[in-house]
Amino acid sequence: MNASSCDACKKTDCAANQRGKTESEQEFRDRQKLLSRLCRIRHKVVVLSGKGGVGKSTVAVNLAAALSLSGKRTGLLDVDIHGPSVPTLLGLEGQTLAGDADGIVPVEVGGLKVVSAGFLLGDPDEAVIWRGPLKMGVIRQFLADVEWGDLDFLIIDSPPGTGDEPLSVVQLIGSLDGAVVVTTPQKVAAVDVRKSITFCRRLDLPVLGVVENMSGFACPKCGEVTPILGSGGGRRISEDMGVPFLGSLPFDPAVGRACDEGKVFIHHDASTPTARIMREIIRPILELDGPDSGNRAD
Ligand SMILES: Nc1ncnc2c1ncn2[C@@H]1O[C@H](COP(=O)(O)OP(=O)(O)OP(=O)(O)O)[C@@H](O)[C@H]1O
Ligand code: SF4
Ligand SMILES: [Mg+2]
Repeated sequence: MNASSCDACKKTDCAANQRGKTESEQEFRDRQKLLSRLCRIRHKVVVLSGKGGVGKSTVAVNLAAALSLSGKRTGLLDVDIHGPSVPTLLGLEGQTLAGDADGIVPVEVGGLKVVSAGFLLGDPDEAVIWRGPLKMGVIRQFLADVEWGDLDFLIIDSPPGTGDEPLSVVQLIGSLDGAVVVTTPQKVAAVDVRKSITFCRRLDLPVLGVVENMSGFACPKCGEVTPILGSGGGRRISEDMGVPFLGSLPFDPAVGRACDEGKVFIHHDASTPTARIMREIIRPILELDGPDSGNRAD
């Protein structure tokens, strides 16, 4: 795919075919290249949180895997440039991105197309110092130069906070379905989730819902959930701020284990109570593609 995809396209009223008054030929071609990739991806969802370590990547990986397992053509883009964890969570450490005449080829695992900043870094222990414009350039490349092909869903995992990466994603994609905001039950996390929701509002990005993670402890023997740090904060914030609440996921040692072993929890431990809760939480996202879409993920 290159700029000629737009030249040959019959959608003459598409914004990609109107060159802006102040746009140079190169800027116009770059925009067409980006839009011609994005127009082949039906749904785009970004996973956000105000605070680090709340389980964004875990939610993003399991959501993408569930979509892929349910037969949806799915991509997972990890734009966490300073701390990419998707390669570890999917057991893809050491993989690198290859390229061909049509662009960068994603790493594929069980049909899921994966691109992570981690595939660009030789040494995972190396500190990366990339400033805002450079980060935006890399994220633009991940969207415009990657051979995503025709996808039903692209799930985007971002670093914590409302910084350059999620901002670049929203600005470059423009037409996201929305954001899933992940939080934990603690009060300090609740403050951060409000900031994430405000960030979405400022950018006209719909909030698809809030997930409260590590809410209670799931017994490793029977799966029964005991509240330990209090819970319900995610639901209260959702109600206060008028956004959907997707559900509470307990702290379950099996989730941590699956992440460490590079196994997708929702698939590997599919019969556990926590996996069932996870499937309920992500069902509304699956249903973005139609009300019966979630069934095959069960
Ligand atoms: N429900 C859960 N039960 C047990 N462990 C969990 C759960 N959710 C996430 N974890 C573990 O918590 C750690 C942090 O999760 P994760 O990497 O998904 O968070 P994050 O929000 O993406 O972090 P960062 O802000 O660094 O990107 C991981 O080790 C993961 O295995
Ligand atoms: S962005 Fe897509 S729909 Fe629009 S002109 Fe290009 S190929 Fe056609
Ligand atoms: Mg993460």
